[in-house]
Amino acid sequence: MVDQYILGGVLASVMGFVLFYNLFLKKNRSASTEIRDECVKSTATGNGECRSKDGDVDVDVDVIIVGAGVAGAALAHTLGKDGRRVHVIERDLTEPDRIVGELLQPGGYLKLVELGLEDCVEEIDAQRVYGYALFKDGKNTKLSYPLEKFHSDVSGRSFHNGRFIQRMREKAANLPNVRLEQGTVTSLREEKGTIIGVQYKNKSGEELTAYAPLTIVCDGCFSNLRRSLCNPKVEVPSCFVGLILENCQLPYANHGHVILADPSPILFYQISSTEIRCLVDVPGQKVPSISNGEMAKYLKTVVAPQIPTELYDAFIATVDKGNMRTMPNRSMPAAPYPTPWGPSNGGCIQHAPSLDRGRNDCSIV
Ligand SMILES: Cc1cc2nc3c(=O)[nH]c(=O)nc-3n(C[C@H](O)[C@H](O)[C@H](O)COP(=O)(O)OP(=O)(O)OC[C@H]3O[C@@H](n4cnc5c(N)ncnc54)[C@H](O)[C@@H]3O)c2cc1C
Ligand SMILES: *[C@@H]1O[C@H](CO)[C@@H](O)[C@H](O)[C@H]1NC(C)=O
Ligand SMILES: *[C@@H]1O[C@H](CO)[C@@H](O)[C@H](O)[C@H]1NC(C)=O
Repeated sequence: MVDQYILGGVLASVMGFVLFYNLFLKKNRSASTEIRDECVKSTATGNGECRSKDGDVDVDVDVIIVGAGVAGAALAHTLGKDGRRVHVIERDLTEPDRIVGELLQPGGYLKLVELGLEDCVEEIDAQRVYGYALFKDGKNTKLSYPLEKFHSDVSGRSFHNGRFIQRMREKAANLPNVRLEQGTVTSLREEKGTIIGVQYKNKSGEELTAYAPLTIVCDGCFSNLRRSLCNPKVEVPSCFVGLILENCQLPYANHGHVILADPSPILFYQISSTEIRCLVDVPGQKVPSISNGEMAKYLKTVVAPQIPTELYDAFIATVDKGNMRTMPNRSMPAAPYPTPWGPSNGGCIQHAPSLDRGRNDCSIV
């Protein structure tokens, strides 16, 4: 019953792209040649847009990937390993500092193995997760993953999201046919109803165009590009408040903790050998303000009395320090506008953990 979203997070994306790739990429290889020819021609006529020769714009790529989060980085690595020429454009290549994507289910780990990415959870002080502990009305119980039939490496993992993402980016960028560049994509380039590439600003602020027969947008839940690709309606039914607790121990070591609290759930899990992530779901669109102290009051009066006593002091200490961050739980309908070759064939389902059902979280817009 407890969420498989984590499994979904990495996985649905990955499965999405493998499918996507099989369906579309192979078909479009000849188109790639066509576009390339066209670009070489346009250089000759001097319109200046397809400058593959002088290095400004590389048209010798099979796929452009926008965004190197978990989806974009895993996809780049997978396609790159398969010999595709990939150009990844990521807005910020420094280590992300986020409160999302910190817990990978065992199925997620198995998927990493399948993709040859399992070493991305090494050397980041990742913690093993063997199941969940559930707390409700003063009672608690432990549920373990049924891992008996698997190799002892197979378990969930929890970690700092940014460290994991950096490992994935590095692995992708180390492939000779993957080019990972810092840049912000400002729009998709369309010609006769077909996406032929992207317009982007590179690290020095230069406005450039990149062309490829296939563009895949993996720009996450704050996407600016999905507006032009699918129904832009986004719902925010609740928010998460994230805190990091130190100097305390979880009641059940190496387990995710789910407190079925009133009015909504609270999560705890280790993200390094010394830190415990706490995520508090706060229902409603308008969460108490952090700056005027309403949030601290809410956490101390409504949330704190419902958490396991082992964590109480550390929780209060963190709230007093004011180290809190919020993140919307966003639900995005997968209702793409039809665009040939465009990235709209995947569906962006949800960018949130769903605690009460197995919900896949597909990262391709
Ligand atoms: C509170 C919370 C907790 C969560 N916890 C988990 C969890 O424990 N486990 C799990 O598996 N999932 C979790 N999720 C879901 C998870 O965060 C998402 O599924 C995952 O981050 C989606 O990955 P992505 O690569 O699609 O997007 P992102 O991780 O958002 O990556 C998008 C990337 O695109 C880049 N980008 C955006 N726009 C542009 C642009 N115009 N040009 C260039 N680059 C651009 C961004 O800089 C970013 O690097 C959680 C979500 C929330 C809200
Ligand atoms: C940005 O693009 C310009 C023009 O192609 C190039 O001269 C410059 O080196 C690029 N900047 C970076 C950081 O790559
Ligand atoms: C997030 O939003 C979905 C609806 O889109 C809802 O079902 C879920 O309970 C919300 N909260 C969490 C913690 O996922």
